[in-house]
Amino acid sequence: MKPFKIRNIEINPPLILSPMAGVTDYTFRRLIKRRGGVGLVVSEFISVEGLTRHNPKSKRQMFFDEEERPFAIQIFGGQAPRMAMGAEMAEEVGADILDVNCGCPAPKVVKNGGGSGLLKDMPRLEEILKEIKKAITIPLTLKLRTGYSDSTINVVDVAKMAEQCGVEHIQVHGRTREQGYKGLANWDLIKQVKEAVNIPVSGNGDITSIEYGLQCWRESGTDGILIGRGAMQNPWIFRQIQDALEGREPYQPDLTEKKAVLLEFFEMLRAEMPEIVALGKMKQLAGQFTKGLIGGAQFRQTLYHSHSAVEILDNITIYFENLAAGNGFGDGIIEAEALLTDSCDAYAAI
Ligand SMILES: Cc1cc2nc3c(=O)[nH]c(=O)nc-3n(C[C@H](O)[C@H](O)[C@H](O)COP(=O)(O)O)c2cc1C
Repeated sequence: MKPFKIRNIEINPPLILSPMAGVTDYTFRRLIKRRGGVGLVVSEFISVEGLTRHNPKSKRQMFFDEEERPFAIQIFGGQAPRMAMGAEMAEEVGADILDVNCGCPAPKVVKNGGGSGLLKDMPRLEEILKEIKKAITIPLTLKLRTGYSDSTINVVDVAKMAEQCGVEHIQVHGRTREQGYKGLANWDLIKQVKEAVNIPVSGNGDITSIEYGLQCWRESGTDGILIGRGAMQNPWIFRQIQDALEGREPYQPDLTEKKAVLLEFFEMLRAEMPEIVALGKMKQLAGQFTKGLIGGAQFRQTLYHSHSAVEILDNITIYFENLAAGNGFGDGIIEAEALLTDSCDAYAAI
């Protein structure tokens, strides 16, 4: 468990903030990166149909800051010429890595041949990878699910083919498309991919604690791990895993710091987007952040019904004052079940 390289780019520590549409935007990525322990951040998935038709939203999604480097842009689509053009645009804006989405389960994406639809059309995926390789000089990476369905698990074959096409890092979310977010990620399949190729492989799925993260990592033998939903519940999870890896006591933020991080996020959101969008994003993070914490359910109710920045700030202050007054933050253990069901559904239904 040491830093690894994607060509000459060092991923150090080997911990990656997994891409999440509607979540891992410019603001959220910086918030998480500043907590420490993150070796690579990835954009939300960006439509090449949008990019190549100069859709302002798609172009905005490519925006990033120097403090985020190394930074990967993830694109999705099903047509090789458009994927190559989109990849070229990502290189032009300065991304360090170009990542292709082969995992999105949303019907709209799959219907057009993209996302996890590429898992059941290997010739199409191969063509896309070859066209992209011709168009860019930065490393090309791939994020895969394990297969389209339980009866067509093919992640090992896809990874081998991708390696032949010049892909330089494979990331595997250990679920099939059919599975959506149900059940547990299959880390055994992730291990099989690691053993089958010579390029770096990172594993992904269900890591919401230091212990489980280290266990999956150790057992699968992967080079790195990606964490998505766990980062919303605990923005310090990367730093804590890094601490454990380097033999230190994992960092434990106190109440003041937890409150400060919510306020920092809110301030960034308000500076970077319209108020109405900022309010929605704030509710999303605060909702996840307080899951499994004492008084969290009630806090979320008040937050969801807040209609202005002032109201949100007041509610945050009251919540943390109550906690400081003796209700405590529990033992800090975050319930594994309290995953982001609602956000998952939103991504799966795009
Ligand atoms: C709200 C949401 C949005 C997501 N968007 C993307 C995406 O844009 N690209 C992608 O490759 N995976 C996306 N995913 C999948 C995650 O990157 C990750 O593979 C999955 O959530 C499993 O990891 P976790 O258990 O650590 O969250 C998304 C997941 C969620 C919950």
